[in-house]
Amino acid sequence: VTISLSHPVACETYESSRELGGFILVDRLTRNTVGAGLVTEIRAGHGNVYWHKLDVDKQARSVMKGQKPCVLWFTGLSGAGKSTIANLVEKRLHAQGRHTMVLDGDNVRHGLNRDLGFTEADRVENIRRVAEVAKLFVESGLIVLVSFISPYRAERMLAREAVEDGEFLEIYVDTPVEECRRRDPKGLYERAYAGQLRNFTGVDAPYEEPEDPEIRLKTLEGTPEELAEQVAEILRQRGIAG
Ligand code: ADX
Repeated sequence: VTISLSHPVACETYESSRELGGFILVDRLTRNTVGAGLVTEIRAGHGNVYWHKLDVDKQARSVMKGQKPCVLWFTGLSGAGKSTIANLVEKRLHAQGRHTMVLDGDNVRHGLNRDLGFTEADRVENIRRVAEVAKLFVESGLIVLVSFISPYRAERMLAREAVEDGEFLEIYVDTPVEECRRRDPKGLYERAYAGQLRNFTGVDAPYEEPEDPEIRLKTLEGTPEELAEQVAEILRQRGIAG
């Protein structure tokens, strides 16, 4: 098995060191040991690809834009209101002269992720890619608003870890499935409940609610404008936007 890591670790081959040549794999959510192995070969870099250090870095790019880059990660069911609220938050930031970018699930699936569907594996890959893109935009100094269902905790955790501490705000757009079904802006719930659309989140595919999001927006208790204002208030408190 070839394993690629998101962070460097110290290791040796088992042949040269018994201490540093063995490992176990622990599932981060259940904390169960799910595998064990011996290191037979170490490849520096990714295959034969090495990291090239650049002189103009995130810091330099953000200073030029006069802002703290970050990811505002909107998660929630289809029809919960993620994109509506993200759009309003971006408009406010834009009006304040902030440099922003929106990554929206429906839109990104027309391009970069047009090869992906809605199986578990495809959604995992969908989020892995968008987390990488969000990280690149953060390195360019932007405030990135990501609006994807992103149903799995583990993938949202990966997205959080792709950027530095304090740069990731998880925003749970909390709308009960019954309300999403009532709104049904694209008619997808109707088709899913009629059995014409499989693997639909909240109907026959899971959504794992965030346990401790930085921001929880209850859309039954406020208008999109009020909820966008709640986000703006937290961005003010964190010194991200005035
Ligand atoms: S995610 O689960 O992989 O994060 P993503 O946010 O990219 O989903 O795309 C969700 C959008 O795709 C929904 O808003 C909806 O318009 C559309 N869609 C089509 N089929 C499905 C499905 N089976 N489950 C959820 N959304 C779907």
